[in-house]
Amino acid sequence: MNIPTLETLDVRGKRVLLRCDLNVPLKEGNITDDGRIRASLPTIKYLLESGASIVIVAHLGRPKGERKPELSLAPIAQRLGELLGREIIFSSEIVGASVTEKVEAMTPGAVLLLENIRYEAAETSKVESEREDLARKLASYADFFVSDGFGAVHRKHASVYDVAKLLPHAAGFLVAAEVEVLKKLTQEPVRPYGVVLGGAKVSDKIGVISNLLEKVNVLAIGGGMVFTFLAAQGKEIGTSLVETDSIPTVLELLKRANEIGVEILLPTDIVVAPAFAADATPTLVSADQIPHDQMGLDIGPVSAAAFAGEIEKCKTVFWNGPMGVFEFPNFAAGTRAVAAALTHVDGISVVGGGDSAAAVRKLGFADSEFGYISTGGGASLEYLEGKELPGLLVLAI
Ligand code: 3PG
Repeated sequence: MNIPTLETLDVRGKRVLLRCDLNVPLKEGNITDDGRIRASLPTIKYLLESGASIVIVAHLGRPKGERKPELSLAPIAQRLGELLGREIIFSSEIVGASVTEKVEAMTPGAVLLLENIRYEAAETSKVESEREDLARKLASYADFFVSDGFGAVHRKHASVYDVAKLLPHAAGFLVAAEVEVLKKLTQEPVRPYGVVLGGAKVSDKIGVISNLLEKVNVLAIGGGMVFTFLAAQGKEIGTSLVETDSIPTVLELLKRANEIGVEILLPTDIVVAPAFAADATPTLVSADQIPHDQMGLDIGPVSAAAFAGEIEKCKTVFWNGPMGVFEFPNFAAGTRAVAAALTHVDGISVVGGGDSAAAVRKLGFADSEFGYISTGGGASLEYLEGKELPGLLVLAI
């Protein structure tokens, strides 16, 4: 796939419609991790230094066509302005005369951020003509389209996909960097190659496990999804999270791994508690002795050390999804151990996904300690599943 780079566009004195992924976590209106805003800065700065003015389009959450005030981009506009050290013009309208007026008044160096594009139902519509109609309005604001919202490139949405068909376009620096890293994970990775997967739902990860199974040397599994694996092996999992429907697929994956000689590393000890609560009393048990009235909330120290040992031997590592409920200090040790091991990798270590990225920052690690921190959760996983991502395909020439 040959995607035009930002440098191919002559943007001096022009208006650029820039799709960013500014979908950051918020708590009571405050941004708790601004990683995605920071990751958008290189492209924005480059465009401004090149003499362009920018209309930024982005989403926050899934308002499904409704103006939900708690999903307004206003706090993001403020943070972006602070990070850029310049005024951000915020438009609470997304389309219409008031936007056109603001756009036409822009001079080189101006940055206009449109309100949450998902307030417009057409953005995510399955009806192509509805999306195209919105895309035409967005395209009317600019001379070029730059796609830099990597976290959304797996979505066939108006501001990601349809608009790229209407304007001369290029990938921004973030999209280009993310694709470069994902290529390293899928096309002849330097070996040994290890993948660590966690998070709550095994159903979200089956496609990735299935596609990567033949490519990796070791696959370590933790997080809530591990209990579906333990249940598939006939173990008592107490009140832990389980997706019964996925058990047959999990058994199939375990069988395939065995046949091709790939090790699927599962935890041998688990930190359990009687309830999903920060103050619940943690107890360490063997993975085949989870009490019937307790739930697993983290991998145990023996497993964490085993995972870390395997990770540190690898030259290429991809990690997605926490090993336990890292938000509760009593159940954060597994995630912390895996994160620490990634920082020791002598090769490329990739932390994938908005949640995993937020987790390592919350646990006190610096971005610079890892080879690469991806901004894309679903997008990275779909790429690793071998799926075609509409937002990338449409950029290709
Ligand atoms: C993400 O958070 O992974 C991206 O911003 C995409 O969001 P979505 O899953 O709501 O499309």
